[in-house]
Amino acid sequence: MISHLNIDPSWSFNECSAKDTSYITHGYYTYPAKFIPQLVRRLIYEHSTETQVLADPFMGSGTTIVEGLINQRISIGVDINEIAFLVAQVKTTPLPSLKLVEVFTQLEKDLKKRLYTERTYFLQKSLDSLKLHEKIDYWFRPAQKESLAILLQRILEISDEPVRRFFLVAFAQILKSCSIWLQKSVKPTRDLSKKDYDVLQTFLQHAKKMVEKNNQFCKLLPQPFLENIENYRIIACTDAREMPCLTESVDLIITSPPYVTSYEYADLHQLPLYWLGYLEDLSQFRQKFIGSMYRKRENGSIHSTLAERVIKDLCNTKKSLEVQRYFADMYEVFKEMHRILKPRAKACIIIGNTSFKGIYIPNAEVFIEQMQNLGFSIFDIVKREIPSKMLPSTRDSKTGQFAKSNQENVILAYPTEYILIFKKL
Ligand SMILES: C[S@@+](CC[C@H](N)C(=O)[O-])C[C@H]1O[C@@H](n2cnc3c(N)ncnc32)[C@H](O)[C@@H]1O
Repeated sequence: MISHLNIDPSWSFNECSAKDTSYITHGYYTYPAKFIPQLVRRLIYEHSTETQVLADPFMGSGTTIVEGLINQRISIGVDINEIAFLVAQVKTTPLPSLKLVEVFTQLEKDLKKRLYTERTYFLQKSLDSLKLHEKIDYWFRPAQKESLAILLQRILEISDEPVRRFFLVAFAQILKSCSIWLQKSVKPTRDLSKKDYDVLQTFLQHAKKMVEKNNQFCKLLPQPFLENIENYRIIACTDAREMPCLTESVDLIITSPPYVTSYEYADLHQLPLYWLGYLEDLSQFRQKFIGSMYRKRENGSIHSTLAERVIKDLCNTKKSLEVQRYFADMYEVFKEMHRILKPRAKACIIIGNTSFKGIYIPNAEVFIEQMQNLGFSIFDIVKREIPSKMLPSTRDSKTGQFAKSNQENVILAYPTEYILIFKKL
């Protein structure tokens, strides 16, 4: 059983500070469940060589793609979430520094006028041209909403598309701070006593940081990549089962899939989705995400006896259907991974096990069974601790079960996850 594997401390990256993990464009946007870039880089070095093709079917904010590009790999990624696509696109597009500084300086000047001296006129103009979703009022106080509307309208007037997208990501990044979303929580929770952030200062501060980070990214990119990034990168907003890749064309996959019973990704991203106009109806939008409890689709086969047992233990509840759907979806993603990988190429899947209402859901073991059924062999399995800034949980040292900290034999435990490394036969 893989749960008895020893933790390999060299994969924890405990020594990496927040500054290290947000270096170059990795610091543009706070994306939930984002990879540690150093972990991805190590996998890239250990399992591929320069100029090979790297792919991530759940690219999220594009950590794999950024690391692939600066390490001279042709990089391909998709995600179903429009915000992930926007962020990944911006994080992997090197922009001329002078141009960015010029637009930034003009923005700062214009925004001071629009937000302060001529606020009434520009507010009306902005509200007339933006079609703001009604849910924005649920998350933003009126004055914050108005300032953000003026700011967004001005960004949308930037004529150069990649530069406009760059500042839209800066806008998206400050939304949580400028809303009444509980700052410490990734889950959608309102904090009615939250202090208002200054919209303009928060935006300018972050955008300025991004301008510097773009510079650092450009310096790390190999020259041919810098000159024509489109030759080395394919990213798309699409389903993981429709990778924009030819059959047997990819040398390495590095990915971390969504979880079942964990986050509702659509809900976590609702602030930028509402503001940038990607979201008309949240309940419909949720259904596209693998692992979502709102997903409605025919249940396919799961190709795992272990998963069948877990589903049986969940006793035909709504949750058992969700888990069944999740593993059926993941099997289809693995089939697509098998299609695009070259023979003997590797796939690295980073996944942790979860539990629901006392029933343990061994995602990693199920994935192993499914991958083996598809024609992959296990190359290596690494068990790693996930360093957390939050307090680690306490566990009984003998049983490994969660325990109260005042009990005997209690040890501190960080959550763990597995890096499953498969080889296509
Ligand atoms: C754990 S996150 C990946 C984070 C990423 N490694 C990063 O560093 O930002 C999982 C991702 O799967 C995406 N996802 C969920 N369902 C999907 C689907 N059907 N097709 C493609 N991506 C999907 C979610 O939008 C989310 O971004």
